[in-house]
Amino acid sequence: MQTINFFSEAYQENPYYYYQLMHEQQPLFFHEPTNSYVISLYEDVERAFKDPTFTSHNYSWQVEPLHGVTMIQMDGREHSRSRNVVVPSFRGKELMEQTLPCIKQNAASLLEHFNGRNVVELRDEFTNIFPIKVIVSMLGLPEEDIVYFHKWYNCFARHFENISNNETVLQAAKDARDEFQAYLSNIIDDRIGKQGNDLLTILCNAEIDGVQMDKRQIMGFCGLLLQAGGETTDKAIANMFRNLLSHPDQLALLQQDRSLMDRAITESLRCSPPAHMILRVTSEKVQLSSGEIPANATVVCMIAAANRDKSKFENPDEFNILRKELETKIAYTGASNMATFGYGRHFCVGAQLSKMEMQVAAEMLLDYMEELAFADDTIPKEIGIFSRYPQSLRVKFKARNSIN
Ligand code: HEM
Repeated sequence: MQTINFFSEAYQENPYYYYQLMHEQQPLFFHEPTNSYVISLYEDVERAFKDPTFTSHNYSWQVEPLHGVTMIQMDGREHSRSRNVVVPSFRGKELMEQTLPCIKQNAASLLEHFNGRNVVELRDEFTNIFPIKVIVSMLGLPEEDIVYFHKWYNCFARHFENISNNETVLQAAKDARDEFQAYLSNIIDDRIGKQGNDLLTILCNAEIDGVQMDKRQIMGFCGLLLQAGGETTDKAIANMFRNLLSHPDQLALLQQDRSLMDRAITESLRCSPPAHMILRVTSEKVQLSSGEIPANATVVCMIAAANRDKSKFENPDEFNILRKELETKIAYTGASNMATFGYGRHFCVGAQLSKMEMQVAAEMLLDYMEELAFADDTIPKEIGIFSRYPQSLRVKFKARNSIN
């Protein structure tokens, strides 16, 4: 049986080959270099997200050192009370009336820099900045401070993937955390007791069980939102454009019929989810269809492999915006048939927000760019095993006259 090692060159080059190998030969295996059990079948990954025996205690090293104990690490009532503070800002009326205009404005302001050009670096100049701008606007913070947020977010993102526990990465993330908290401290003091509908003012005045949150908790919330909502959406948009540009026939279809946009977004999130792995820790011994996992074990839930399980999706390695199994209406709810946003109690709070950001970005970019193609005429390489994305995305295009 072939040994699967996340850190091998072959794995990093093409993890998708190993996802099928996992399904066929090793649906559950022990990965020695990370001392963890790996699950990859759709039904096992779904179960791990939904079954509380698979706890989120992994976040005690992935998130807590930076942002304290946040909702992502909590269980039961404590978790739902904390989550309920932010849920209204991420759905329905609030999202449509308050956040959508700010998403559009942020996308348009980035697009202005494309004026008069026909080659751009879509990651550096758009996807890597856009979701951070959106979060900064949602928190009601000054737009010019985006440069700091950008640096902090990149340090947090590297720490999240620090599965081999590199000291330098941890230290850089802690330094970023200290700067981030020092920045927020006075602003939080200012907003406590004030009226306002920005997310930071909401957090500053929210009560959990009748008790106002302290500064550390508020900072933790902000740090989590920056970390969870920045990196993922950045990579989701970059992956979508990489997928579309490497399938020009499907890009042309979408250009002709924009009603396919929901399909294009959903298929890209299925085929190329930004987060390939999410961890869990078992509280007791668990029996899965693929085998047994002992208590207190770290479990790697292979989201990207689950999304390519043949029992759920035909020709799962194919990017196909017309595929019949796509469930675009429920893809951004806990009833989704893809594992991209998790399941169960920790189902992504920002799923609908990120869909909205992807849609606005894609509509505006496609409206502005005609004859869109990779600038170097080759498909940019994907990198990363924890999360996966094109490091660079140079594109060429013919600009339409105006930016809508
Ligand atoms: C395409 C973009 C995104 C993807 C693929 C994604 C993916 C995920 C996944 C897989 C989880 C579950 C983690 C777990 O169970 O351990 C999660 C949770 C979470 N996400 Fe997202 N996310 C995205 C965008 C966002 C955005 C834009 C925000 C907010 C600004 C956000 C905020 C959160 C939060 C706060 C949680 C924790 C929820 C809880 O513990 O109850 N995410 N996300």
